[in-house]
Amino acid sequence: MVQSNRWTHIWDKLTRYLSEAVSRTGGVVLPVGVAVVLSGVLTGCATENTPDMLTPRGPAAAHVAELWWILFWAATAVFVLVLGLCVFAILRSGNARPDEPVPLVARNSFIVGAGAIVPALILIGVLAVTVRASNVLMDRSEPPALTIEVIAHQWWWEVRYPDHGIVTANEIYMPAGVPVEFHLTARDVIHSFWVPQLAGKLDMIDGKIHTARLEAWEPGTFRGICAEFCGVQHTFMDFYVVAQEPAEFQSWVEQQQRPHAGPTTEAESRGMEIYYEARCDQCHIVRGFDEPMPPTGRAGPDLTHLGSRMTLAGATIENNVTTLAQWILDPHTIKPGVHMLPTPLEPDELDALVAFLLAME
Ligand code: CUA
Repeated sequence: MVQSNRWTHIWDKLTRYLSEAVSRTGGVVLPVGVAVVLSGVLTGCATENTPDMLTPRGPAAAHVAELWWILFWAATAVFVLVLGLCVFAILRSGNARPDEPVPLVARNSFIVGAGAIVPALILIGVLAVTVRASNVLMDRSEPPALTIEVIAHQWWWEVRYPDHGIVTANEIYMPAGVPVEFHLTARDVIHSFWVPQLAGKLDMIDGKIHTARLEAWEPGTFRGICAEFCGVQHTFMDFYVVAQEPAEFQSWVEQQQRPHAGPTTEAESRGMEIYYEARCDQCHIVRGFDEPMPPTGRAGPDLTHLGSRMTLAGATIENNVTTLAQWILDPHTIKPGVHMLPTPLEPDELDALVAFLLAME
């Protein structure tokens, strides 16, 4: 009976505090609370290609996810403990007698223990697991199978394979099952390279080269994102990592090494003329007509094998005849603020230019 009264007492107190909080804040607390809980739950809704760091597909991401779970459960334990103590305090407050204060020694030992010693122990534990994970992630004892340079621009990714003479954009092909070293830098503001299913994020800074090791356990396509606010189109600065069987990757390399074969139809010949008349070559390169391995620093992506790419404009839109034509005519409607200039062309000129640009897969 006493027990039941006690719980009724706690429940009354809790509901009274809650209703007071809601009325004092004009009813804002409840909807905000629900929104916070829902946003936490709904961000877990994954679809294919969702860059979800909790479903790692490589060793580096697995270490990051493991660390995340350790921190999550430690935080949950502290949260539950603190809530429990709050309930305990509410329960005790009903029985408190002003003439019987808590002894000073007991109060001080609780404050020192729960306020200093326990947090210090938790933080030391967190530091230890973080340092261990960092050491594993920084391990460079095994030589990489391949080195890829990625240069972030507002708002696209230049991808270079120095050992193979390949330059591409917004898509990173690599062999699965082997460690690949990434040299990351930027050409303007600070960006951040993040492929959540393969590794943690790393800042990309002009004038500095940061290295990361990525390995995919199995072949697959993984979405990458820019994780540092870098201007109005930061949200639309994505890319794909395509991990392939080594033999498949080798044939991709051979395909990408080929320069543009030149126009093979009348439309493509016209398209090539338009390409130079419209001064596309001021910002872009089609290998075969320019230097074999263009230097970095061009304003726009290498277009030699544009026909092989899945997307345009930092994975903003699919790549096909229609979207490429729209992109050339009026890129600002698709990606406001983008540095690419609109190119007003007659419909037949546009068709010819698109045919030339998509000729090489
Ligand atoms: Cu680049 Cu955000």
